[in-house]
Amino acid sequence: MRTQVGIVGAGPAGLLLGHLLHLAGIESVVLENRSRTHVEERIRAGLLEQGTVEVLTEAGVAERLHREAMVHEGLELRFDGQSHRIPLTGLTGKRVTIYGQQEVVKDLIAVRLGAGAPLLFEVDRVALHDLETDAPSISFVHEGIAQRLHCDVIAGCDGFHGICRDSIPAGVLRAYERVYPFAWLGILAAAPPASHELIYARHERGFALATMRSPTLSRLYIQCRPEEDLTQWSDDRIWAELHARLAHRDHGSPVKEGPILQRGVTTMRSFVVEPMRFGRLFLAGDAAHIVPPTGAKGMNLAIADIRVLAQALEAFYRGRGTALLEAYSGRALARVWKAQRFSWWMTSLLHRFDGDDLFEHKLRLAELDYVCNSAAGAMTLAENYVGLPLAPG
Ligand code: FAD
Ligand code: DHB
Repeated sequence: MRTQVGIVGAGPAGLLLGHLLHLAGIESVVLENRSRTHVEERIRAGLLEQGTVEVLTEAGVAERLHREAMVHEGLELRFDGQSHRIPLTGLTGKRVTIYGQQEVVKDLIAVRLGAGAPLLFEVDRVALHDLETDAPSISFVHEGIAQRLHCDVIAGCDGFHGICRDSIPAGVLRAYERVYPFAWLGILAAAPPASHELIYARHERGFALATMRSPTLSRLYIQCRPEEDLTQWSDDRIWAELHARLAHRDHGSPVKEGPILQRGVTTMRSFVVEPMRFGRLFLAGDAAHIVPPTGAKGMNLAIADIRVLAQALEAFYRGRGTALLEAYSGRALARVWKAQRFSWWMTSLLHRFDGDDLFEHKLRLAELDYVCNSAAGAMTLAENYVGLPLAPG
């Protein structure tokens, strides 16, 4: 089998790349090792930056998003039992959008299959070959048949646990990493959201976040231990913890209870590899970097990478040479590191660190006070949260 661009992974990164290439008249094949149902039902990110919504809109895959999504103009920070609103739109002119990652993935799968473009689920034993040549290839097994996909370029969009990054010879990449001593216990509940905007809470018992998926579906997170055993968390214990951490000193808890539909623990890590390229293999999204979820940057970064990569591939296929492909890693990383900094900062500001003494606790409260009560402090949070500009083209 032959194509122009071989794409490994059908998450937001791989699917969007396939679609942008299709719009530019460039052929690709997307290979995904899980089933369609699995990737469409995997509950993860939920908050889209305005730039992400614009990319999806320009690509013609945001019709349902604009019908169903919830648009937010601010967020709430809660600490010391009090509430402080950051007016995101008032400060930056930009909005953020709540629309589940799995909905973005469903929309991208539908448009790709609708166009008859190749997208293979449940492929097995994916391996990359000849990455340092102009004719790399991908071997894999699909429906019991061993196949080889010959291409000009391979896009490694297979997430943090994929095989693309590890296909690069030892010594080429430099990895930067920080593992946090806590995790998030997340639930999806059939209950109205705690508030009309997101609430991020710093509490002596640990961080909590109240977000949502729709007017009848809440998504709630609490800081927990990385090795947390979910069997120790009854529904009652989860709700009690959420009420305690999100409570307002005067108005009590805004959290509304309902049947818990899904629960899971997410560990927290900052990770970047440099460069995001080896020969004809280009890494994008979680395959190259992950952030702790506190600033909601993961999927947005994956989409920003793809915009830069798609532009570079379009220039390459239009006969404008490899300059933009050479520049891909540097352009993507400039934005990645700023989002890494922001995600690390939001995480440090809002979580409880076991070793912290009272001095550090007081410093964090002072910083929160500064963010909430200084225009410059609020702006620093707001402009990063709504999304820094994409790399200039
Ligand atoms: P993925 O979505 O991981 O996709 C990679 C794909 O490759 C998968 O489908 C995988 O099955 C496939 N694959 C893996 N190995 C192979 C292989 N060998 N062969 C073929 N296919 C393979 N981000 C935000 O922007 N906002 C948020 O609010 C947010 N909240 C989050 C909350 C949680 C609890 C979690 C866990 C994450 C959150 N994120 C958030 C991060 C976001 O989900 C990821 O950054 C995003 O999924 C990255 O997209 P991707 O396409 O790079 O990788
Ligand atoms: C969501 C997740 C986040 O990590 C975040 O900062 C905001 C929203 C969400 O799942 O909706």
